[in-house]
Amino acid sequence: MIREHKKHKFPPFAELPVKPNVELISDFMYENYNRWEDNITAHKGLAVASNNIANETYKCVEHFHLTVPNKSDESLGEAGDYSLKDKLKRQVAHTMDEHNWKHPASFYDSTPLEEHLNSLFKAKIIRARYSRMKPGGYVPPHIDYNTTYAVRWIMPINGNEGVVNKFWYKGEERELHMENGKMYFLNIGFRHSVEHNGPNLRHYLMGSLASQEDILHLLD
Ligand SMILES: [Fe+2]
Repeated sequence: MIREHKKHKFPPFAELPVKPNVELISDFMYENYNRWEDNITAHKGLAVASNNIANETYKCVEHFHLTVPNKSDESLGEAGDYSLKDKLKRQVAHTMDEHNWKHPASFYDSTPLEEHLNSLFKAKIIRARYSRMKPGGYVPPHIDYNTTYAVRWIMPINGNEGVVNKFWYKGEERELHMENGKMYFLNIGFRHSVEHNGPNLRHYLMGSLASQEDILHLLD
């Protein structure tokens, strides 16, 4: 498992050379369209770790997870106020450790979608979820985690027009305008924000990988 390369060794973002089955991904979402949860419920406290982003974005984003934490190996306490340092050292509540979210939810387990998503990456998917964001939505600048912790991927499904991802990368402001149906790596160890200036509800699939095998070609 390769996880030694720090965030500075990678670009702020990049399209990944994989071919997602957009129809399969989109159909599965609409078949499960009753599963949306608000930002706090969906994360069971996970996102609260980084400067209350979950609270700040409460009104504009919703999610449903394809993978869930395994409750039976719960060893740490309740979600709460943890520093980023604690998070990286894994000294946090069970649900706030991205790596505990690797268990497929029952409605996703052994489906063609699970098989497909696993086939896209060499590394293991440790967390995957659908998200939707309302027009006018804004995720303020924040940092999630370094590439030594996990690797973030994202694929906009529809409604992505007018969405701008900004990264503050080595003293420069860099903008990413994603295209629906393409898969991207996001280097979320750098400060970043999301602005939805478009007219439509934006749907996207997003997840994390346990290690770096799928982004090694992007190394400096
Ligand atoms: Fe983020």
